[in-house]
Amino acid sequence: MKTIAPGRVNLIGDHTDYTGGLVFPMAIDRWTVCEGAITQDAITLTSADQEGTVNVPLGATFDSAMQPSWGRYVSAVASLIKPHHGVAAHLTTTIPVGAGLSSSAALELAIAYALTDSITPTELALLMQQAEQLATGVPTGIMDQLCIATAREGMGTLIDCESLAVTHIPIPTDVEFVVQFIAHRTLEGSEYSDRVRECTEAESVIGPLRHASLNDVAHIGDETVHRRARHVITENQRVLDFTQALASGNYSEAGQLMRESHESLSHDFAVSTQQMDNVVESLCAIPGVYGSRMTGGGFGGCVVTMCAPGTELDGWRVQPVGAARRVD
Ligand code: GLA
Repeated sequence: MKTIAPGRVNLIGDHTDYTGGLVFPMAIDRWTVCEGAITQDAITLTSADQEGTVNVPLGATFDSAMQPSWGRYVSAVASLIKPHHGVAAHLTTTIPVGAGLSSSAALELAIAYALTDSITPTELALLMQQAEQLATGVPTGIMDQLCIATAREGMGTLIDCESLAVTHIPIPTDVEFVVQFIAHRTLEGSEYSDRVRECTEAESVIGPLRHASLNDVAHIGDETVHRRARHVITENQRVLDFTQALASGNYSEAGQLMRESHESLSHDFAVSTQQMDNVVESLCAIPGVYGSRMTGGGFGGCVVTMCAPGTELDGWRVQPVGAARRVD
């Protein structure tokens, strides 16, 4: 038995998923692999990168005190999948942990496919979103799990996080995406939960942000909440504009939208860092670079840059790959 699950980089549309907005991530050529044997008893996992052996009895409920601590993800996944069999397997990964490239969602899906193969990708993504929330206590959205569960090779994954409709959009081969690692972070203990609360506050004044306009935002008195709402509404529009610009080969327009997205995440949504702002600014000044932005939850992690092929930049060139699956 062997399963693989890729990481993802979000090209545009951050902090929009938990209000039913639009996101455009792509699964990347870095993977978590789970390899071993199906058993009739417990789930027993070891990892090349993490300490200890995780042992979860079949039928166990979620154990928030699980040791070693990465076992919380295994416990969360198992408690939701309720598998009819166990597994004894070893995990390896080429996705950097804590870098905003969804190493945790890849872990969840790699384990999930080892425990079941009779669930649709969308149902699995919803369950694994719950697993992430259980394991971390952070009210994260659906983007990471749904992208990793439904991605197609060569395509970006446009997700409508309200209907969960997925549209696969070709990633042009005459541009490159480069990911640069900036700093380790976890969303636990970050202001991620505060941002979710601020969006809920905005919605209590003007209704669902997905259906609100900038005119509606004018009715929000609180300056901070006003800015958060403005980010979400403008970011949803940028996702649509970006996919169209990419499809029509208008790369300078697409790059400009990435820069605007970064500005908005930094100023209105306050999830960037000075270091990320500086890196994005210097990357954008390099000839051949169309645009650059922070990617994912923020507060550290990575920036993603779109550039002409062959542009010399630090970081990893990433390719769009297919979804998590069982491979044998
Ligand atoms: C993290 C979450 C996602 C999403 C992004 C920000 O990656 O897991 O659900 O909210 O942050 O876009």
